[in-house]
Amino acid sequence: MPVPAPSPDSRAVVTGASQGIGEALATELAARGHSLIVTARRGEVLTDLAARLTERYGVTVEVRAVDLADPAARTALADELAERNISILCANAGTATFGPVANLDPAGERAQVQLNVQGVHDLVLAVLPGMVARKAGGILISGSAAGNSPIPNNATYAATKAFANTFSESLRGELKQSGIHVTLLAPGPVRTEVPDPNEASLVDRLIPDFLWISVEHTAQISLDGLERNKMRVVPGLTSKAMSVASGYAPRAIVTPIVGLVYKKLGGD
Ligand SMILES: NC(=O)c1ccc[n+]([C@@H]2O[C@H](COP(=O)([O-])OP(=O)(O)OC[C@H]3O[C@@H](n4cnc5c(N)ncnc54)[C@H](OP(=O)(O)O)[C@@H]3O)[C@@H](O)[C@H]2O)c1
Repeated sequence: MPVPAPSPDSRAVVTGASQGIGEALATELAARGHSLIVTARRGEVLTDLAARLTERYGVTVEVRAVDLADPAARTALADELAERNISILCANAGTATFGPVANLDPAGERAQVQLNVQGVHDLVLAVLPGMVARKAGGILISGSAAGNSPIPNNATYAATKAFANTFSESLRGELKQSGIHVTLLAPGPVRTEVPDPNEASLVDRLIPDFLWISVEHTAQISLDGLERNKMRVVPGLTSKAMSVASGYAPRAIVTPIVGLVYKKLGGD
C-alpha cells in the first residue's frame, strides 16, 4: 500500500521544520498536496513558512512551537499527535556537538540526547497506534552516516544517530506487512547554501562544490524513498562513500582517522 494520499483531515508532521532539511521536507510535502503540522522552537519562523506554503500550495499548515528537548513540552505534542490523523511523520529535528565529551557542557549533551533520541522515539510511539489501526502511514527518520560507526570528538551525536539508524531500520522490518512505510534518511554532509569562502568550515573546504547536495534534492529523494518503502536513503556521492567506508572498513582502523577529522571540527 502506498503512503496515504493527501486528505483534508490528515496531517503530515515535520519536526525541525524551521530551516534546513526539515524546511525542505515541509515544502516538498506541501507541493505534493499534504496539509502539515510543522514544529521547531522558533514559532515566528514557522509562522512565516506556514503562510508561504499555504499561499503557494493551498494547504493547511499548523504551527507548533515546541522544544523537543523538554520532556513536558514533548509529551504535550506527542499526546496531541496520538489523537490526530497523522499520515506521515518526518522525525527530523536534530543537533550535533563537536569536541571531546569531557570538554562539552553536560546540559547541552543531555539536551542533544533528549532531542535526537527521545524526540524521535516519543513521536513515533505517539503516531504508530493510529497508523497501525488505519493500516497506512509513512515514517521518515533523519539519522545520519555519522550513526554508522564510532566518531571520537562527535560521540554524543554519533551515538544518538546510531539509535535513529537502528530504530528506523528495525521498525521497518516489524511493519513490513502492516501498510506502514518506514525509511531512514542517513546523509553525510548536506548544505543549505554555498558559504562565504572566509567563513567556510573544514567540511566545506574538504568537499568540493560539485559533491555537495542540496536540502531540496535531499527532501525529494527522501519522500520518493518513503513512497517506495526504501530502507535507507543516502543522498549524494559523498554520503554514499562515507556509508561504504563505515560499513566495510574495520572500526579499529576507521575510528582514529575519523576522530582526527572531527577533532578539527571541534576547534582544535
Ligand atoms: N545537514 C547535514 O549535513 C546532515 C547530515 C546528516 C544528518 N543530518 C540530520 O538531518 C536532520 C536535519 O539536519 P539539518 O542540517 O537540516 O539541521 P539544522 O539546519 O541544524 O536544523 C535543525 C532543526 O531542528 C530544530 N531544533 C533544534 N533544536 C531543537 C529543539 N530543542 N526542539 C525542537 N526543534 C529543534 C531547529 O529549529 P529551531 O532552532 O527553531 O528549534 C531546526 O529546524 C538532523 O537530525 C541532522 O542530524 C543532517
